[in-house]
Formats: sequence, C-alpha cells, structure tokens
Amino acid sequence: MIRLARVEDLPLLQDIERAAGEAFRGLGMDSVADDDPASLDELQVYAAASRAWVYADGLDFPVAYVLVDVVDGNAHVEQVTVHPDAAHQGLGRELLHAARIWGRGHGMQRQTLSTFRDVPWNAPYYRRLGFEELDAGTWGPQLTRLMEHEAELGLTRWPRLAMWRPTAPPGH
Ligand SMILES: CC(C)(COP(=O)(O)OP(=O)(O)OC[C@H]1O[C@@H](n2cnc3c(N)ncnc32)[C@H](O)[C@@H]1OP(=O)(O)O)[C@@H](O)C(=O)NCCC(=O)NCCS
Repeated sequence: MIRLARVEDLPLLQDIERAAGEAFRGLGMDSVADDDPASLDELQVYAAASRAWVYADGLDFPVAYVLVDVVDGNAHVEQVTVHPDAAHQGLGRELLHAARIWGRGHGMQRQTLSTFRDVPWNAPYYRRLGFEELDAGTWGPQLTRLMEHEAELGLTRWPRLAMWRPTAPPGH
C-alpha cells in the first residue's frame, strides 16, 4: 500500500536508491550508480512536508518511494525509485499516480520531471505513462535552474530532458 513516508523509513529509502542505482552500471553509467542517495536530512525535508510517499510491503517496510517538489507551480517528481526486487509490478506507475493526484488536489495543472532520454526505464518508460517532452523554451525559472544544477552535477554527460503530463488524466 501507498502511505506517507515516516522518519523511520528514511534509511530504507537510501538502501532502495543504492540498489536501484546498480542498473545504471549495465549502461556504463557508473557515476550515476555511485552517486550517493539523498541524505537523511534531505529526505526528512520531504517527509516533514508530506511530499514523500512509500509503497510498503505486507510487513510495512518500504520497497519503493517517490519524492515531490513544487517547481514553477507544478508537481515535480524529484525522484521515483523501486527496489529491483519489487520492480515490474506497477509500483512505480502507482506512486507516480499518487503524486499526480496530490498535485491535482493542490491545484497544480502539471506533473513534471527530468530524466535521462536514452535509459530504457527513464524517458521511454515515462512516455508510456503519458509524459511528453517539455521544450526547453517553455521551462519556467525554477525548472531552468534545476536543469542547470543537474548539468553542474555532471548528469548531462548523458542527454537529459524535462517531461510533463497533466495532473488530471484525460476525461477528468
Ligand atoms: C523506473 C522505475 C521507477 C520503474 O518502476 P517499476 O515499478 O519497475 O515500473 P512499473 O512496474 O510501473 O513499469 C515497469 C515497466 O518499466 C520499464 N522498466 C522497468 N525497469 C526496466 C529495466 N530495467 N529495463 C527496461 N525497462 C524497464 C518496462 O517498460 C517495464 O515494463 P515490464 O514490467 O512489462 O517489463 C524503476 O525501474 C526504478 O526505480 N529504476 C531505477 C531508478 C530510476 O531510474 N528512477 C527514475 C529516474 S530518477
């Protein structure tokens, strides 16, 4: 089930991040795999703001999580990660949906994120979930800053893009 993250979950979120990052090694993206997960203090900011959700297993242990920021007035997915042992069960899709509904409930029109263009479980995955590329010319100031920061971190060694989908699914 999906629930808000609690302080005691946070070390497990770091473990999930490290485990999921390993997949990038297979694409020669070792520096992404080696990236430290968010610190406990950083994660605590999301938990305290009720903008971190986990998918908890039957014993209530998190196996996946999503962190959301408000960027240019949109519900921005800072991170969505599923432990490899729990992958391919739709948990990522469900967490993204929960974050989408949160944004909609807070009056936001769009769900946004930034991701790697060519990593199969990144942009192509989000496209299948209804996300489309957000042209650089239309980025707001906060998204622009965020993309610049990613470049400073060296992430743009591999092409990255911003994507969006409406917070209200079609027909709503
Ligand atoms: C991206 C991610 C969140 C998807 O979570 P998930 O719960 O496995 O995804 P879903 O079950 O909703 O969808 C699964 C689909 O995602 C794609 N996918 C997931 N992992 C994949 C992989 N290693 N290779 C290729 N496609 C993959 C496939 O299309 C898959 O469909 P399938 O299960 O029929 O093969 C998860 O793979 C993950 O945590 N990856 C590492 C961290 C990451 O890259 N986060 C996003 C960028 S910040």
